[in-house]
Amino acid sequence: MFDRPESGERAVLVHINLYEGQEDLNELKELAKSAGAEVVHVLTGSRPKPDPKYFIGKGKLEELLAIIEETEADLVLFNHVLTPSQERNLEAALEFRVVDRNGLILDIFALRAKTYDGKLQVELAQLNHLASRLTRGWTHLDRQKGGIGMRGTGETQLEDDRRQVAARMKLVQGRLAKVVKQRHQGRARRKRTETPNVSLVGYTNTGKSTLFNALTGANIYAADQLFATLDPTLRRFKLGNTTEVVLADTVGFIRHLPHELVAAFKSTLQEATEADLLLHVIDANDEYRNETILEVNRVLKEIGADHNQQLEVFNKIDLLEGFLPKIDRNEDGIPIRVWMSAQTGAGMDLLQQAVAEIFSASRVQVRCHLSAKEGGVRAKLCAVANIVEEEFTDEGGWELLLEIDRQHLGILKQVDFEEIVS
Ligand code: GTP
Repeated sequence: MFDRPESGERAVLVHINLYEGQEDLNELKELAKSAGAEVVHVLTGSRPKPDPKYFIGKGKLEELLAIIEETEADLVLFNHVLTPSQERNLEAALEFRVVDRNGLILDIFALRAKTYDGKLQVELAQLNHLASRLTRGWTHLDRQKGGIGMRGTGETQLEDDRRQVAARMKLVQGRLAKVVKQRHQGRARRKRTETPNVSLVGYTNTGKSTLFNALTGANIYAADQLFATLDPTLRRFKLGNTTEVVLADTVGFIRHLPHELVAAFKSTLQEATEADLLLHVIDANDEYRNETILEVNRVLKEIGADHNQQLEVFNKIDLLEGFLPKIDRNEDGIPIRVWMSAQTGAGMDLLQQAVAEIFSASRVQVRCHLSAKEGGVRAKLCAVANIVEEEFTDEGGWELLLEIDRQHLGILKQVDFEEIVS
């Protein structure tokens, strides 16, 4: 279903300056590159609002036609979201393949999806996108097969009718529901054993996968391409020599991530929603870093993860001259930001220290005595607490020194225990 890209497709980019909803031209170029396209021309213009029929005006349409012929392009990419009818009208007028911003992003997602559920989610989003465009008038594109905007479900489905698309959507939805349930069960199991969940979130290309690999030693594909990571990848690792956490890598966000995509990836991003701590990775060297921080926080809000505790990770400080790794703290002394480089490893120790501090802020040391009959309590403690020392008593019981989250002190309510204040 998900074909490899035909690399080197020649694309004409269309970017219109509107008074509202301005997109970034450089970002479109990056997106096009990520989809394997070579940009042969950029057509720009400005108008107060989109033309309802073609998005661009008649004059621009003629200009575009001439450029297509001159450059021998393979497709036209719009840096805007087109309505299905605008896309159809443009294709009919130009007799040419037109892909809008959402179609392009979906296409990149289709290329990057690695796991089963990631692929299902992309396919569903593509089917949704396709369904709204499936009416008539595709025959004019028969001579152009495959390529950007037609990958994944694209070319074969275009000839199918709505009913077939709907049937496929139902099938994919069913499979997806099953995977989502399994994932949820996995998370529930981790919650029961109280291993803290940490999720890496952040704008695309900020270094999440690189950091994930550096922290866990896993070899996840990291490339200087947008969306190198689409599926959350989970690893268990130890912080220092006590706290064990589960770390999830999640999809990179981009500006104006289409709403339909946020919705489609909700279950993938669910890892972030249920995380005990979000590591918000930021490219410290990006001149637009403040905008990207706001954008990521906006998406987090949309998926309901805006109240999860967050530690900002200002990555790539090796690109800032003379900058040393450090931890910024709030007025209570709790870490809120770490400056580091996942690539050189500078400040990795500080990041681990900051995460451990955040988790230990709610942990206490407790000494307790359990009788031989209280083996059940000991088993519960083993599941949620870190046993620092354990001695067997002559009566067959235990003397324990524990590190435990305050919320679990209830396990000890029938037992003699003493909190150790350091
Ligand atoms: P998406 O999957 O698109 O969300 O990207 P990501 O956030 O996972 O970024 P990734 O780890 O793929 O890194 C993007 C690029 O930044 C790669 O070329 C990395 O080699 C580079 N990179 C990551 N960390 C650092 C760093 O600390 N310093 C420098 N100079 N480059 C880095």
